[in-house]
Amino acid sequence: MLASIKTNHLTNDGQKLGMMYFRVAIILFGAQLLLGLVAAIQFLAPSFLFEILDFSVARMVHINALVVWMLYAMIGASYWMLTDETEHEGVHMGLGKLAFWVLTAAITVVVLVYLIVQVGPGTEASIWLIHEGREYIEAPRWADIGIVVVILIFYWNIFATYMKGKQTGIMTVLVADLLALAGLYVTGMFFTDNISMDQFWWWWVIHLWVEATWEVYVGVLAAYALIKLIGAKREIVEMWLWIEVLMLFGSGVLGMGHHYFWIGTPEYWWEIGALFSALEPVPLVAMFVHVLYDWGKQQGAAKERGEAGSVIVNGPAMTWIVLNAFGNFLGAGIWGFFHTLPQVNIYTHGTQFTAAHGHLSFFGAYATILIGMMYIGIQGAYGVKRMKATFNSKMGVFLTAFGVMGMTIALTIAGYEQVLVERAELGGTWNAYFVAQELPWYIQGQLWRAIMGVVTLAGFIYLVVDMLTIGKKAQQDEAQAA
Ligand code: HEM
Ligand code: HEM
Ligand SMILES: [Fe+2]
Repeated sequence: MLASIKTNHLTNDGQKLGMMYFRVAIILFGAQLLLGLVAAIQFLAPSFLFEILDFSVARMVHINALVVWMLYAMIGASYWMLTDETEHEGVHMGLGKLAFWVLTAAITVVVLVYLIVQVGPGTEASIWLIHEGREYIEAPRWADIGIVVVILIFYWNIFATYMKGKQTGIMTVLVADLLALAGLYVTGMFFTDNISMDQFWWWWVIHLWVEATWEVYVGVLAAYALIKLIGAKREIVEMWLWIEVLMLFGSGVLGMGHHYFWIGTPEYWWEIGALFSALEPVPLVAMFVHVLYDWGKQQGAAKERGEAGSVIVNGPAMTWIVLNAFGNFLGAGIWGFFHTLPQVNIYTHGTQFTAAHGHLSFFGAYATILIGMMYIGIQGAYGVKRMKATFNSKMGVFLTAFGVMGMTIALTIAGYEQVLVERAELGGTWNAYFVAQELPWYIQGQLWRAIMGVVTLAGFIYLVVDMLTIGKKAQQDEAQAA
């Protein structure tokens, strides 16, 4: 991917800009994993890097890098699809490029400040200059405002191109969804000193992003990718896309109630949250069935036409996208449903169980498909018709997925122990928390999470090596075949 900066075959600015976003995304993904490992080691050896890189900072950078790399990859994928879907050249791409550099410079400064200023009082000045203390979206206010400006430019690029070009169903959903996605960010920006109110609005970003707008966005990517990779019929994927939009927005919006159980909001949220969040997995299952059904159907149709074997034009991209269907279903659907009813959540709330769900859902629902889109980008950048999976692609996907699944299981076991001992047996007191942290199931769970984290990192290294080399290899294969 990096090797293609100079020699890429891309002729349009939208796709070039998309690749720029992908490159930064993958670097931030690497940083996310390294800081995750630091935090994981600190669970086992609390004095590790104490006062050099504290747990609070390692954790903060870990999850903020996660959100930012995913947003970068989403912007990248949007620019990538834009010119292709609309069949029109990107409007005001020069401005888009400028916005990219401004955003990247701002993020570098923000991260450096996080690392340099590790402790200190929370004041009006620290909210403006250091961070806001809102989990996942901690950018200081100056950066918040900058992000809004940059996103407006990005949105203008997308919207103006859409208006001038072909308006496919995929593009219409994308344009509407991005507006909702960007608009929600604003709800997490204003300050109130009432913690319940602050959390109430903060969930509008966090929950409505991942359980509504991001999920719809994934539907857009899946629809686009299936058309590109296996020639899926546009009518089929677009029909499902519209159904998903309806269902996800419906269940996602009121499903937000599952975060309003214990933060001081009225008790009627218990019933609303329980019912609608329990319905949330329905569209996920539909998406899962739909992706595999479509794929099987296409395979069958190809065989009928006498085309032997697979018709997949990009092996690694397809693998990651199929993994997305499974991962979304498991991480969000199953691990989410586990703890979504208030009767269960009163015991599991904020235990390692939550972290287990957080890891599998973010990885399964988003990391997978975004990596798939990067492979589609690489194929385009090298101008090859067919890109087969290499040994590195396979090791990359296998070790990363195995590692994340391993971490999830380890954390689920640690969370189970917390539920039984800390919550059920000892009544969830301050003391109970510390008793539960000392027990073998918890400590071993943390140890296995760290080990599986290393496996994940090893998978990531294979992935990066593959991204740097697969394009050239596919070119050589194609030259040989000709
Ligand atoms: C891809 C979609 C999803 C992602 C990325 C995701 C991610 C997360 C994350 C990171 C948290 C922890 C938030 C915190 O720091 O407090 C969380 C909490 C939670 N999620 Fe999800 N989630 C998704 C879908 C779902 C679904 C579909 C359900 C229900 C069926 C669900 C149920 C919950 C519940 C109940 C909590 C609160 C846990 C607690 O009480 O500590 N999630 N989710
Ligand atoms: C090298 C691999 C990784 C390691 C060692 C690791 C470790 C950690 C640690 C120690 C925390 C803090 C948990 C706590 O406060 O109890 C954390 C939080 C989190 N990580 Fe990771 N992580 C890794 C990879 C990932 C990946 C690949 C994703 C998603 C794509 C991810 C998503 C998250 C999320 C969403 C949270 C917040 C969870 C919550 O508070 O509920 N991590 N991680
Ligand atoms: Fe939620």
